[in-house]
Amino acid sequence: MIKAHPLHGPNKLKLGVFSTNADGGLAITDVPERWTASWQDNLTAAQIADRAGLEFMLPIARWRGFGGRNKVREWSFETFTWAAALAVATEQIGLFMTVHVPLVHPLYAAKALATVDHISQGRAGLNIVCGWNPKEFGMFGTPLVEKGYDQAAEWIEILEKLYASAEPLDYEGTYYRLKEAVSRPASLQAPRPVTMNAAFGGPGRDFAAARCDYLFTTFSEMSDAGKHVADISERAEKVGRDVGVYTVAHVVCRPTMEEAQAYYTRYAVDLADHDAVDAHMASKKEFSQSHDPHAYDRYRQRFAGGAGTYPLIGTPETIAADMAAIAGQGYQGIALSFVNYTRELPYFCDHVLPILRKAGLRVT
Ligand SMILES: Cc1cc2nc3c(=O)[nH]c(=O)nc-3n(C[C@H](O)[C@H](O)[C@H](O)COP(=O)(O)O)c2cc1C
Repeated sequence: MIKAHPLHGPNKLKLGVFSTNADGGLAITDVPERWTASWQDNLTAAQIADRAGLEFMLPIARWRGFGGRNKVREWSFETFTWAAALAVATEQIGLFMTVHVPLVHPLYAAKALATVDHISQGRAGLNIVCGWNPKEFGMFGTPLVEKGYDQAAEWIEILEKLYASAEPLDYEGTYYRLKEAVSRPASLQAPRPVTMNAAFGGPGRDFAAARCDYLFTTFSEMSDAGKHVADISERAEKVGRDVGVYTVAHVVCRPTMEEAQAYYTRYAVDLADHDAVDAHMASKKEFSQSHDPHAYDRYRQRFAGGAGTYPLIGTPETIAADMAAIAGQGYQGIALSFVNYTRELPYFCDHVLPILRKAGLRVT
């Protein structure tokens, strides 16, 4: 018997660490302590998170960077192999793999994902992305798919059918044709590992509602963060399902608000890698719907600070209060990024987690 996946654990607000596998994490900055995503640092960050009882490590899927001084994100570790290695170096944390549907065949994904689920004894997680960057897809000679989520529906159906069948099966779809396909072993988790879809737009939400366990998404304003949760719940209800929502934030946690804000200004304004911020924002704005449209005009600092995600900047008390507000809007979990994960995670875990425990948001 495998243990329940950490995402099914008792904490009301689940917490994880996002994007340690890529240069810069989510930040686009030139500060000397910027994250260079070495393997040793990935390992250390995962072990800190594991020991602190955080629920998950979630990698970004990136094949190409955004230029600028540091060629930010050009260096990134592939996510199946990254998770497999972390599986033997950690004990209880969930390990996601972020997979581009159009770039990875579902038969390959089924086998790789099941492999990590076995190595980790049921701690694997799948984060599906359809992708948005035409230059990245160009490296594979693959055009951006117009109806990415139609392809994703076939992709996940194949993966589930392969796990369900010990006998070879044929599959005839619009995007995939499989002849006498088999993939053993199946994942330990049944019918498949915990699965989220990272998306913001309507078709991505409908896909998550119909086929995944969670939507992983962004919001721009705390005041209306709950509307995204209500929207996905409505879409899930229509297809008779219950789908949770996770979001993403970048964190600067310091003993005083002044220190936190000064550091946020330093790394995400004064020493932002501005050419790369421009390139990232321009291509995201043109090709992706992963944020509220007004975010690009209003929140440049957020793009330098954490690729356009929500900022949690402050003291342990204010950050815990912001997290409680996010949970209050209906989000079940938050994936967090830091400028330098190994330096900043210990302070965050030591000072924010106890406040969340007192608030009843976390029991472990
Ligand atoms: C929270 C979040 C995380 C994402 N992570 C990735 C990623 O790691 N790699 C990637 O290529 N796209 C990523 N995306 C982009 C999606 O793949 C998708 O292309 C984008 O959100 C636009 O399409 P949508 O309308 O489905 O949201 C992410 C999107 C969101 C909202």
